[in-house]
Amino acid sequence: MNYSHLFKQSIENPESFWREQADQLEWFKNPATILSQNEYNYPQWFADGELNACYLAIDKHIKDGYGDSEAIIYDSPVTQTVKKYTFNDVKTEVAKLAGGLLSLGLKKGDTAVVYMPMIPQALFAMLACARIGVTHSVVFGGFAPNELAVRIDDCKPKVIITASSGIEVSRLIAYKPLVDEAIELAIHKPDKVILFNRKLGAKIPAKHYDIDYGTLIYESEEAECIPVASTHPLYILYTSGTTGKPKGIVRDTGGYVTALKFSMTSIYNMKPGEVFWAASDVGWVVGHSYITYGPLFNRNTTVVFEGKPVRTPNASTFWRVIEEHKVSVLFVAPTAIRAIKQDDPEGEFIKQYDLSAFRTLFLAGERCDIATINWFKQHVPIPALDHFWQTETGWAMAAPMIGIEELPVVLGSVGKPVCGYNLQILNEEGQELGPNQEGYVVTKLPLPPGTLLDLWNDHERFVSGYLSQYNGYFFTGDGGYKDENGNIFITGRVDDVINVAGHRLSTADMEENISSHPAVAECAVVGIQDELKGQIPLALVIRKKNADIEHFQLEYELVQLIRDRIGAVTSFKRVIEVDRLPKTRSGKILRKLIRTIADGKEFQIPSTIEDATVVDELLGLFEQKK
Ligand code: COA
Ligand code: AMP
Repeated sequence: MNYSHLFKQSIENPESFWREQADQLEWFKNPATILSQNEYNYPQWFADGELNACYLAIDKHIKDGYGDSEAIIYDSPVTQTVKKYTFNDVKTEVAKLAGGLLSLGLKKGDTAVVYMPMIPQALFAMLACARIGVTHSVVFGGFAPNELAVRIDDCKPKVIITASSGIEVSRLIAYKPLVDEAIELAIHKPDKVILFNRKLGAKIPAKHYDIDYGTLIYESEEAECIPVASTHPLYILYTSGTTGKPKGIVRDTGGYVTALKFSMTSIYNMKPGEVFWAASDVGWVVGHSYITYGPLFNRNTTVVFEGKPVRTPNASTFWRVIEEHKVSVLFVAPTAIRAIKQDDPEGEFIKQYDLSAFRTLFLAGERCDIATINWFKQHVPIPALDHFWQTETGWAMAAPMIGIEELPVVLGSVGKPVCGYNLQILNEEGQELGPNQEGYVVTKLPLPPGTLLDLWNDHERFVSGYLSQYNGYFFTGDGGYKDENGNIFITGRVDDVINVAGHRLSTADMEENISSHPAVAECAVVGIQDELKGQIPLALVIRKKNADIEHFQLEYELVQLIRDRIGAVTSFKRVIEVDRLPKTRSGKILRKLIRTIADGKEFQIPSTIEDATVVDELLGLFEQKK
């Protein structure tokens, strides 16, 4: 097969291209309409088709005779556990949990929040919701109660499914008290909290809304898969935007299944029966698409890994998992490879393992530095491929599509546009730019199946955040360019979203919280370069005139405040006090300028700056702090 030919087809005739892909699924009702418009005139896929995502992930494979094949391998170095689940096992667990949800009064169209560590029950919970048409919203376990409460209020779940605790390296994190606190903070009160008790010793204060997960499963009948419309929201996944309020990305069902199934073969080159490992977390989009749904739709075994690339117990863990479970493809954020490289620079651990099953490494989530790719390739001589996507799209926008054709990979590039994505680089005025000209990364509408349908409860923000910048295009929020052969290069976010160890975070959210401290008059948070995590947040703070507090005490209090309100996952550790911030004449803080100066890069003083002398102050400040 030929990439150029297939790509051209996907852009010039999207309906026949995606009809062919959709035909490969088992629908409860085949779609007659492939591409149409919803009530907002936004493109939607397979509108009159009916299907069930859980059926296609589990039941179909059992019907086809693969019930005894492995579906999920749970590998948890932090509890020293390895447990394997066949498709039959998963079906029993999921169907009973779905039956339990029905018995609690949940029905198609309701929502449920899942707040879980990396355990198979997180996947069971997602699949159980999908089985009966309940829209799930998984919230990353590293978010603090306040963030969980914001999401509860937005998606108004009937139940929250959680676990007693998680383990961060060697630290036990009691989840249940965090959920209780979030419910107290939220205005919307869910009916029940379904609690999976891991019996790890975490304190579990009993509440009137508690239901024990084990008892519920034990007492419930298995529920069958319910057909849902292709456009039925399978999930809502909140992601960071440019304000403190997270955006609820709404994913459909039919488009998502079609796209993920296509991606498993055309991008990741996976054959059914092989083992796929996305070393992320179910709380992020990678966890939705490539820990849970994608591999299972393609009848691959998925690895649920509860640990870190280092310290659980050391930098050998990834290689041990690959050897032990015969992983064919590993998908990680570059920061994980940087962490391994830092702890095992000579790759001594790598030599101790049989990595013969390991075919390809895929990287995404943040910019990958060439040194990291080169280090990996020096020690593991297989392709290490960078590819580009975001929560909004649910699957890759640009990637080497090695399942279609292996083309030469240009280091530093994220590959070529994926079939279905008419990716362009535009200038400020919306004109398409030529090769090697940096601009804004956009995709011409319609986006392919599997991408976002809308923002939950906020269509206006969907339009203003993604569609109104350039008429007829979806704006990614990233900057980048193409070379003369069409390879895409991503240069970074052009807004105030930052990427810390592959975790997408909002600086606006941090600023709102920091500004609430009684000693703070004003602040700006920017993401500065970090060797391990790619970016880390830095706060520039102006104190109130009458604030009587030592700098170190203020820094300590602000760090604690961000940990308590957003979560430790922000890796927020540094506060610098300043007398003033660089601003435009209209009062907008020039965050990009601060970031560039802090990173020691070349910069241009914007013509809109109110007072250019502040630049010298910043230069002096960062020189001092080095
Ligand atoms: N629950 C509670 N706390 C959590 C958490 C969770 N699910 N996940 C992270 N945290 C906490 C950590 O314990 C840590 O707290 P600390 O500052 O008190 O030590 C903090 O949040 C930062 O966590 P993390 O980003 O994981 O950093 P780390 O220093 O513990 O580890 C890496 C560094 C590089 C090993 C780690 O970031 C990593 O494995 N990254 C892989 C990237 C990834 O999976 N990205 C997902 C998107 S694809
Ligand atoms: P998330 O929504 O958490 O997946 O984060 C998406 C953002 O991560 C994108 O908008 C990019 O800024 C960044 N990103 C993802 N993949 C890459 C990549 N391969 N190279 C550079 N940046 C990336």
